[in-house]
Amino acid sequence: MTLQSIKWENGKLEILDQLLLPAQSKYIEITGVKDGWTAIHRMQVRGAPAIAIVGCLSLAVEIFPKSYDKKEVLIQEIGEKLDYLVSARPTAVNINLAANELKQLMLTLSNENATPALIKEKIISRITSMLKEDIADNKAIGEHGAKEIIKNQNNKSVTILTHCNTGSLATAGYGTALGIIRSLYNNGNLEHVYCTETRPYNQGARLTAYELVHDRIPSTLICDDMVGSLMKTKNISAVVIGADRIVANGDTANKIGTYQIAILAKYHSVPFYIAAPFTTIDFSLCHGDEIKIEERPQNELTEINGVRIAAENIQCWNPSFDVTPADLISGIITEKGVFKPSELVTLKK
Ligand code: MRU
Repeated sequence: MTLQSIKWENGKLEILDQLLLPAQSKYIEITGVKDGWTAIHRMQVRGAPAIAIVGCLSLAVEIFPKSYDKKEVLIQEIGEKLDYLVSARPTAVNINLAANELKQLMLTLSNENATPALIKEKIISRITSMLKEDIADNKAIGEHGAKEIIKNQNNKSVTILTHCNTGSLATAGYGTALGIIRSLYNNGNLEHVYCTETRPYNQGARLTAYELVHDRIPSTLICDDMVGSLMKTKNISAVVIGADRIVANGDTANKIGTYQIAILAKYHSVPFYIAAPFTTIDFSLCHGDEIKIEERPQNELTEINGVRIAAENIQCWNPSFDVTPADLISGIITEKGVFKPSELVTLKK
């Protein structure tokens, strides 16, 4: 059975509560934008594409039963709610791009003299289509990535290292980096996958390991500090990792720990790939230093499931993401193909 993290039907939205995984598979209902913001902020749903989709769907839920007499009221309300949703987590760009697209759509429809009812219908229909589009994009990323990785390994079976969670739980389905791993496995080209624990939130141990076991993909969990030894001893064919924001020069923000894996990959001559849909590329920023990095609460480091594991009174620093410079990245695998980081600027519309 396919793992489904987002359920949307007839104006009802439910998400798999990722704070409870893997111990419990429990869906929670999102009844509007406030719930959507909270679920994203608390990381009950996480992963750049899933944040965008659940955020937008929470808006769809809220406007679904309402009727509007004036289009100005509708446009203002939707605009304000989108701005609020974007503020839930600052680093992943996909929700910003989705919000801008929806605002532009409302403007275009309004200029075409569409009624409030039609604007509402088109907005909901655009948001709903994001679910299908994301899965299709991920399958395309999977195929492009699988081909690219095999090509560089003389078509032998490959061993992959991944970090954080980029699978069905982080997207509408299939996944980006984990989608490539799924495609390699389905095509019979995957020897083994190593996934990191991904401290402090443990997306690797809790979520990626859960997805790999669910799909019966041959896999092994390692701690984040084992990556150097892994690359020295286990013949890793490639690293494939996701992204929260890729800027115009190819610098890429992703889960904390990605940067040090990229440095280790360079040292050990292991190709290092980023997998992401085009909605993760932010052409408005030129350099990775411009990306805002979210810092999360200290208790994510000091506690596990509410039990204190760190010495009392120690100070903590908990940046949720880091930026990998473009020159450490072998290729960016998207639904439109595989690009060198330096080629991105040529793709700007
Ligand atoms: O803090 P998270 O769990 O939202 O971080 C997730 C990641 O860093 C993923 O690698 C990224 O969002 C891509 S998910 C397809």
